[in-house]
Amino acid sequence: METLFNQGSNLAEAVDRAFIFIFAISFIFTIGITVLMIYILVHFSRKKNKNPKQFSHNTKLEVIWTVVPLIIVLMMFYYGWVGFAPMRQVPADAMPVTVIGRMWSWEFDYGNGKVSKELVLPFNKNVKLNLVSRDVNHSLFIPAFRVKEDVIPGYENYMWFRPIMKGTFDIYCTEYCGLAHSAMLSKVIVLDSLEFKQWLTELKVPDNLPDPPGLVIIKANACITCHSLDGSKVIGPTFKGLYGRKTLVVTESGDKEIEANDEYIKKSITDPNAEQVKGYNKGLMQSYKEKISAEDLDKIVDYFKISVETK
Ligand code: CUA
Repeated sequence: METLFNQGSNLAEAVDRAFIFIFAISFIFTIGITVLMIYILVHFSRKKNKNPKQFSHNTKLEVIWTVVPLIIVLMMFYYGWVGFAPMRQVPADAMPVTVIGRMWSWEFDYGNGKVSKELVLPFNKNVKLNLVSRDVNHSLFIPAFRVKEDVIPGYENYMWFRPIMKGTFDIYCTEYCGLAHSAMLSKVIVLDSLEFKQWLTELKVPDNLPDPPGLVIIKANACITCHSLDGSKVIGPTFKGLYGRKTLVVTESGDKEIEANDEYIKKSITDPNAEQVKGYNKGLMQSYKEKISAEDLDKIVDYFKISVETK
């Protein structure tokens, strides 16, 4: 795990410079104003000044407190601008990768059908990320690279950078996008250019076979919003390897072990809170009794059976 203070991209240094400058100015002013305030309270107190004096203005003082802050904010603007301007100028040789954000995962499309769950990049090579959302507003944030851009449906946003550090770095979604927003995580992995080429060659193109009928029903009812297909823990237990899995469930009469057979799977859909898998919250899932027919329940169970057998 890399630390927050790594400057992992070519853009990081300028961002840090602007941040540290603004932070230092704020720090100095906070201390300075507090000290001055205490001095004024004591020095100009009524006890020490029995007869108040009348002031109108002081030109010298007024010019100073106008010009000095003006210079400071212009310097803040300068540091911000020299950090920001290059971020919007993409070098012509940048390698394009399309980032797809959806509730609640990231996907990285390298073209020719090659899609990855992690952003793997070659070391020291310019990359342009085209940011696409499939549903709501997200925001791609790579703290170690000091880059952050909104990912908005119907709007072509982008970012670019050059990774200047090898290793693994965190990716966050930093725009609240619903229930599992905080779980919308991924990684950047920066490899040697040769290692990267090898990785990209070996990246499998998913075979686009049509979904089995059960999976079509599962997707149509948005079950995979809360139940992953790849084994990751979202809101509810994963569907991966579900059929025949032995699990502890919480019932009204205490915990017990069950096997996910036809009966249990169907009951979990029609009466989800009766026998809740231990470690998951009750009440988050509603009954699908009215929404999914008995025939479709069979198809769903069939799908779980096939997907376990073919693994
Ligand atoms: Cu996607 Cu928050």
